[in-house]
Amino acid sequence: MTIGIHDISAATGSLVFALADLAEHEGIDVGKYHRGIGQTEMSLTTEDEDIVTMAARAAKPILERHGVEGIRTVVFATESGIDQSKAASVFLHGVLGLPRSARVVEVKEACYSATAAIQFGLGIVERRPSERVLVIASDVARYELNSSGEATQGSGAVAMLIAKDPAVLEIEPVSGLWTDDVWDFWRPNDRSTALVDGKYSVQVYLESLEGAWQDYRANGGAEFSSFARVCYHQPFTRMAVKAQQRLARIADPDGESGDIDRLADTVEYNARIGNTYTASIYLALLSLLDNGPDLAGERIGFFSYGSGAVGEFFAGVLVPGYKAQMRTDELQGLLEQRRPIAYDEYRHRHIAYDRVGDFETADETQGDVRFAGIAEHRRLYESR
Ligand code: CAA
Repeated sequence: MTIGIHDISAATGSLVFALADLAEHEGIDVGKYHRGIGQTEMSLTTEDEDIVTMAARAAKPILERHGVEGIRTVVFATESGIDQSKAASVFLHGVLGLPRSARVVEVKEACYSATAAIQFGLGIVERRPSERVLVIASDVARYELNSSGEATQGSGAVAMLIAKDPAVLEIEPVSGLWTDDVWDFWRPNDRSTALVDGKYSVQVYLESLEGAWQDYRANGGAEFSSFARVCYHQPFTRMAVKAQQRLARIADPDGESGDIDRLADTVEYNARIGNTYTASIYLALLSLLDNGPDLAGERIGFFSYGSGAVGEFFAGVLVPGYKAQMRTDELQGLLEQRRPIAYDEYRHRHIAYDRVGDFETADETQGDVRFAGIAEHRRLYESR
């Protein structure tokens, strides 16, 4: 029996802000953003969007195609949780009308936790192959205005159905693991923006890649030269280039597997959406599936990283016919439909983000599910 990703679908916030606009107001060359960090735009959320509404928008096409039968577990991975106690997936369970017979939880470890969620899903399906697990990765990536991370903000969600005999990606059993208790990026409970030691975080990312790779190989993982592509966590897409170069240097110094041209198909969505924390590596996969050549039967590597810090390297093989499962036009349509906002509106929205007390939100989202506001400390959602 093979187990893996049976379906995958994504959504982003309904607003878009161009980094050219940011560079112009900062009085710097836009080349720093377009080439130096490899980002052109960032997706931003409207007042009535959050991790739950984006998750619902990402998951709906999967549920419409496959139904809810067999889905007894929903694991929601996020860095930008909306409640300290109640799992975001319980809100999602409500708005999507999922069956009551379900275990529904949220998991956290910065940008890494969707990979843990997938591993949990694989274990559940292995024990009981009739079950399917809905995994959600959804985040709003926020940094302070005028900080080094500002240009790497973004928002988006990826939903995946983990099942036996998957139609998209068969996930192989070997993983390489790495954890170290460090302070490269974190977000204390009283903040909606992350704190980050930018240069150090890049260094820890690369150390974690090396550590996870060495553990992957020590546990019988495949050779680097056997990967058709590698999807990396992309806090900004240029990070994938740094990662590929580092991995090639230690794993295949004389070969062509480290060719950075091979990354091109994996960065298209992230360059236009920005950092989506937990969702970023799976947006890289979706970008490859949608925009790359047909790689059926080929092995794809994955490096998942979450600051703080945890890294995991694993692999999967693309299933023949996977291209026919893709909803390429739909995601590209969502990107095109985003409403562009200019610098002043961007700044205004960034400052207005942290609202407290009871409030109602303006009706702005392009999605079917909206965050309506807060009443008596309760988050309210409505579907249309
Ligand atoms: N044309 C072309 N390139 C240019 C340029 C121009 N005009 N001007 C500058 N550049 C290049 C620089 O040479 C540099 O390239 P290298 O990295 O190859 O040296 C690149 O643009 C960036 O320039 P700086 O290093 O000067 O940029 P910075 O210090 O202002 O910011 C950063 C870089 C620290 C990574 C910042 O974006 C940041 O803090 N980001 C948030 C943290 C982050 O994403 N860390 C990644 C690892 S942690 C992680 O992965 C978890 C997560 O999701 C957060």
